[in-house]
Amino acid sequence: QTQTIFLQEMSKLKTKQAQWEPFAWYKEMRENSPVFYDAGQNVWNVFLYDDVKRVLVDHRLFSNKKERSFIPVPRDDNRTNINFCDPPEHRTRRGLLAQAFTPRSLREWEPRIQAIADELIAEIEGQATVDIVQKLAIPLPVTVIAELLGVPSRDRELIKAWSDILFYPYSKETFGDVAEQKAQALKEFSDYLYPIVQEKRKHPADDIISDLTRATLEGEQLTDAEVVRFSIGLLGAGNETTTMLISNIFYSMLFDQPGIYREIRADLSLVPKLIEEVLRYRFPVAIDRQVAQDTTVFGHNLKKGQIVVAWTGAANRDESKFDHAENFDIHRPNNQHHLTFGAGPHLCLGAPLARMEANIALTTFVKRFADIYPAEGFNVVEHLTDSAVGQSLKSLPIRLEKA
Ligand code: HEM
Repeated sequence: QTQTIFLQEMSKLKTKQAQWEPFAWYKEMRENSPVFYDAGQNVWNVFLYDDVKRVLVDHRLFSNKKERSFIPVPRDDNRTNINFCDPPEHRTRRGLLAQAFTPRSLREWEPRIQAIADELIAEIEGQATVDIVQKLAIPLPVTVIAELLGVPSRDRELIKAWSDILFYPYSKETFGDVAEQKAQALKEFSDYLYPIVQEKRKHPADDIISDLTRATLEGEQLTDAEVVRFSIGLLGAGNETTTMLISNIFYSMLFDQPGIYREIRADLSLVPKLIEEVLRYRFPVAIDRQVAQDTTVFGHNLKKGQIVVAWTGAANRDESKFDHAENFDIHRPNNQHHLTFGAGPHLCLGAPLARMEANIALTTFVKRFADIYPAEGFNVVEHLTDSAVGQSLKSLPIRLEKA
């Protein structure tokens, strides 16, 4: 297991509210300490757009083979981890999955994603108030990714529960408990997937797990265990973040720019712009890398083995890249240049899928409802997750106005 870095300790963002809206702190860091060394944890932090992008793109200097990370993973160098490795080996591993996520493959999935969205939205029709996180933002991505892989989507609650635990961040206080829960979830998830993988190897169908059972890596077929690992990675990656995106889209329409809902409804071609602006404006995340060799960069001496945290959420509000960066503006000409999907070799493989899911979800929703309003007495703090990062909504009750 990699050693753990605690972003919490670094950011001094203590309350859930502060973690949900870290944007004032981001600004303070961009202005006063854009390259900040946290001596306690021996970690560099960068906040400006160009620096963050450099960390992500320059894989020779900033490696994804890490001895420490704020997302701890097992350190055994298994071939199925496409994230914790660098080019050139990264390229072959990623190549195994890339086929499934091309725009062409996704177009084939579009009708199915539409049907899932239709079904979920039909279930909320006729209700006056609905929790959009529980009824749409959670079930849509988990159902889609389960179907893509070929795992029964009736098990979506199990899959969701396991990936929640695997993505659950560590905090200093809860470390031991969380580690134990994760080990248990990983075991249960693997035990669940094994027979599915074995069955698909015998009787391949048109899905990603079947493709993986037939794929070769470095001239060898993947073992069942390797297919299971790849699948867990995909099921998790395809899940939590897309839920966050769909939830945040609704939050932004209610609170960042009330009134935007009707503008979108009058012109559905604005949907993709809204999605990109939410990705830029309201996605407080970070990505880490390990310094590969002693070097002078960003005006400082960085030592081999030190970790650099690239605060993408802060880069997305850098005034030197985005005019009036603190304003929510779907008409911003370059909002898609946000770094929420990363950049460089590890650029999110699922980005086209996430965008498509959000687009279908929102377009389908908007056609059915004339407007949306916050639920009576809504107080965001009560709806944030208990996780140490605290940056995602576990529920978002909204009032619906029928079309
Ligand atoms: C990688 C974000 C949805 C699969 C990444 C990275 C980011 C990211 C920032 C790069 C990590 C790094 O550089 O170390 C997001 C966000 C999403 C999303 C914000 C939704 C809004 C998805 C979906 C899938 C997916 C739907 C589908 C399975 C992956 C995979 C990688 C990845 C496989 C690893 C790529 C590599 O290392 O080469 N994602 N992701 N993601 N994402 Fe996503």
